[in-house]
Amino acid sequence: MTSSAQQYTVTAKNGVVVSIDKYASQVGVEILKQGGNAIDAAVATAFALAVTHPFAGNIGGGGFMLIKLQSGEEVAIDYREMAPEKATPEMFLKPDGTVDLDKSNYGYLVAGVPGTVKGLETAWKNYGKLPWKKLVEPAIALAEHGIYLNKYDAQELAKNQAHLVRYPESRKIFFKSATETYSSGDLWRQPDLAKTLKLIARRGAKTFYFGSIASKIAADFKKNNGILTKSDLKKYEVKIRQPLKGTFKNYEILGMPPPASGGVGVIELLNILEHVSLNTQEPLDPQNLHLLIEAMRYVYLDRTKFLGDPDFGQVPVAKLIVKSYGQVLAEQLNPDSATSSESLTQNISTFDENMETTHFSVADQYGNVVSNTFTLEEAFGSKAVVTGLGFLLNNEMHDFNINPQQANIRGGLGTNPNGIAPFKRMLSSMAPTMVLKDGKPILLTGSPGGRTIVNTVLQMILGTTIYNLSLEQTIQLPRLSHHWMPDVVYYEKNRWREEVLEALRQKGHTLTEVNFLGDAQSIWIDPLTGEFTGVSDDRRAGWAAGY
Ligand code: DON
Repeated sequence: MTSSAQQYTVTAKNGVVVSIDKYASQVGVEILKQGGNAIDAAVATAFALAVTHPFAGNIGGGGFMLIKLQSGEEVAIDYREMAPEKATPEMFLKPDGTVDLDKSNYGYLVAGVPGTVKGLETAWKNYGKLPWKKLVEPAIALAEHGIYLNKYDAQELAKNQAHLVRYPESRKIFFKSATETYSSGDLWRQPDLAKTLKLIARRGAKTFYFGSIASKIAADFKKNNGILTKSDLKKYEVKIRQPLKGTFKNYEILGMPPPASGGVGVIELLNILEHVSLNTQEPLDPQNLHLLIEAMRYVYLDRTKFLGDPDFGQVPVAKLIVKSYGQVLAEQLNPDSATSSESLTQNISTFDENMETTHFSVADQYGNVVSNTFTLEEAFGSKAVVTGLGFLLNNEMHDFNINPQQANIRGGLGTNPNGIAPFKRMLSSMAPTMVLKDGKPILLTGSPGGRTIVNTVLQMILGTTIYNLSLEQTIQLPRLSHHWMPDVVYYEKNRWREEVLEALRQKGHTLTEVNFLGDAQSIWIDPLTGEFTGVSDDRRAGWAAGY
């Protein structure tokens, strides 16, 4: 295989995998060719991404997998990280009550108990066909023999060098020396990770949660003043949840329930938009965009007020996604000008998350489909690689509201429902999503992008449904995102016509330019012919593979 390059689209009859990375998508398709189903391919793709895309692919983090089987069964696998037993609401505060930005971003304290290995094993145990080993072996080969770094990954490594080199194991793995980075096209090997993956292939997830890997993880945390213990690993549970269901016009929507906010966010937004009049001939009509922004404002306020781990308190999911509530909110939207977010409520606010996570979609010839988003939270997670094991830790703990006293400084994501508690899962924005027509999946999508994720997914759904665009055209649409607070509209650089932006400013919106929003690695399934079209988002790297 060569380095870099991107394959944006593929059409295929038998199966498709679309991910951010060529190697990973190809691994997934190989598994399909060997007779594996979409779940097998998803597991193998995820393990491959842990090797080839350490920016976000992982075995030291967590995520959410939405599955729809040919039989009609639908399942949401929650393998989100959980707080260690010794976690406390004040753990990231300095004596003066302000947030310790170093501890809440880097190193060991900020790592939640990883869920990925158990999550993938659970998916495979319940729904996979091929032997477990076969699904891990391609990742082992990629780690052992190496991959040719692509331009995107080389740039990201360089960008994150300052923090990665603080950790000797990360320095050893990600850089030629303390000062020399790997370049695009360099062969890059990860022998420690290959050894870890071999153990996982041989012994399954138990080695990670009970066995020798667990002991090494716990010892490394102890040495580095972390609080995560072997007992935390042992107690980690994957949660099998019911996907959230909604409808939009003649389509059905399947989304991820809390602790992901994706399902609630997407369905609540669609429920509002069902009750407003959008110009379906012109997706970029400023009036459409204004209404979208206003809907986002209300939905993100609700997210902040109400969402958190449902196993730790009442989360009013049903009330938020019921159609009548969408209508109530739709009636409140001001069609003429921007509402002030501050006027809606005061004293709670949020900060902006980062853009690093990764989504992939898989469809097989049997009619099974998978939509999976997983993450280390920020690029390369906490930046610390576990000694001798070759994998990065997540820094997911800062997805909690890490300042219980004051929820409106950087560090506050949500309010009490998302406060830190032992064994609790932190609220996520991830939104692996499926759109169905007459019960059959037609769109598999999702995205990275922190809080922008829900809005990217919304725009993917609008494009392929009411705007009647192809998947490729939908992905090309310029994106925007509003999160209630801060009260600004983020828009993508170089993708918008100035007069559209100006029309939004005229309505009273404050606009902020960002390089890009999201990375929606998606699949379209033609409802008539069943043919797959995989489209990789061109905002980063990406590869649509099929056969
Ligand atoms: O779970 C979440 O919502 C975040 N930890 C995801 C982080 C993210 O998407 C960053 N960006 N791409």
